[in-house]
Amino acid sequence: MFLACRRLPKVELHAHLNGSVRPQTIRKILEERSRAGEALPVTEQQLQDITACGDRSLADCFRLFDLIHVITTTHSAIARIAAEVVRDFAEDRVVYLELRTTPKARPEYDMTKQSYIEAVLEGIELGLRQLPAAADATAAANAANADEAPPAPAPADIIAVKLLLSIDRREDSAAALETVQLAARYKARGVVGVDLSGNPYVGSWGQWREALAAARAAGLGVTLHAGEVYSPAETARMLEFRPDRLGHCCYLDDSLAAELRASVAIPLELCLTSNVLTQSVTSYPEHHFAEMYAAGHPVVLCTDDSGVFGTTLSKEYAIAAAAFKLPLGALWELARRSVEFVFGGEEEKRRLRGLMDRERPLMLGAKIERGNDEA
Ligand code: IMP
Ligand code: ZN
Repeated sequence: MFLACRRLPKVELHAHLNGSVRPQTIRKILEERSRAGEALPVTEQQLQDITACGDRSLADCFRLFDLIHVITTTHSAIARIAAEVVRDFAEDRVVYLELRTTPKARPEYDMTKQSYIEAVLEGIELGLRQLPAAADATAAANAANADEAPPAPAPADIIAVKLLLSIDRREDSAAALETVQLAARYKARGVVGVDLSGNPYVGSWGQWREALAAARAAGLGVTLHAGEVYSPAETARMLEFRPDRLGHCCYLDDSLAAELRASVAIPLELCLTSNVLTQSVTSYPEHHFAEMYAAGHPVVLCTDDSGVFGTTLSKEYAIAAAAFKLPLGALWELARRSVEFVFGGEEEKRRLRGLMDRERPLMLGAKIERGNDEA
């Protein structure tokens, strides 16, 4: 099933840049800083914690992100990580990636939020340039259709990468508004939305509401991390705001869950491994994906932090297949339906629908016709 999941053209809508960094890149950046004579900002034990990819509480995760941030400080580190993340998702046959990151001002590195965004965009462009073109990938794609061959990566002219700017819950209303204004300014360069994320124990909704409303008014998509911990009052206010998408929603009491299902169906970005490893959800089969999916609520499988949690989008599909007994055809439909929730606009949706529908019979047709849908 895993190979079949790798072959599926997939849409990734919830991936944090610094959470998707390869563990070996963290080590390499530190080695380079050490060679340049810098004192290392983390201990060997902290480094092992970052690169361990294991179970960790949500609180531990946020400590870990702070450590990653003191390592990935420079424009060049940020651009390099963005380029690698693009290549990694392409390698996993993601054909549309919405990457999100929190713009950071670091005066000591001559970095403003704007120059941070520029570095991310440069990195994305570099990553795209490093991918093979479709024509060069044809031979590999043919091999990929043989049963045991690894699937070919999504080529440069097939994958689309868009950027969301995140507001960290530690930020006040002025900082949140600055991020939204930058997002609006960078629309022409592929910024399509705004996210609210960060430690769910920090800050309160009123701090960011106005900035998020400004994002919506500027024609940007808005997605919110919601219900990562039990905080029904905040989650209710988030639902009232009617964002375009919601992330996680692990802790919804019955009335909020009913409201979510009954109201405009706000698509949910669900990150199975992230939720299980952080113990926000007790096990894969008990993940609320099952309930939402069964109710026909729009759900999108996502990785959240592929580097920190040691996952890929293909793995998330394979986990869903095993935990919720989804045949390949259902996984295909799940991936296909995700297209409807991208922030990249109608033209992009049309392109993705066409691309996925064209590949469907090539990849699934024979198996489905043979009734071998479980392959
Ligand atoms: P960055 O925005 O590219 O630096 O990615 C890391 C940041 O994403 C973290 O510092 C958090 O603010 C946010 N983040 C990553 N994973 C989660 C999550 O599971 N919940 C909330 N915020 C998250
Ligand atoms: Zn997240």
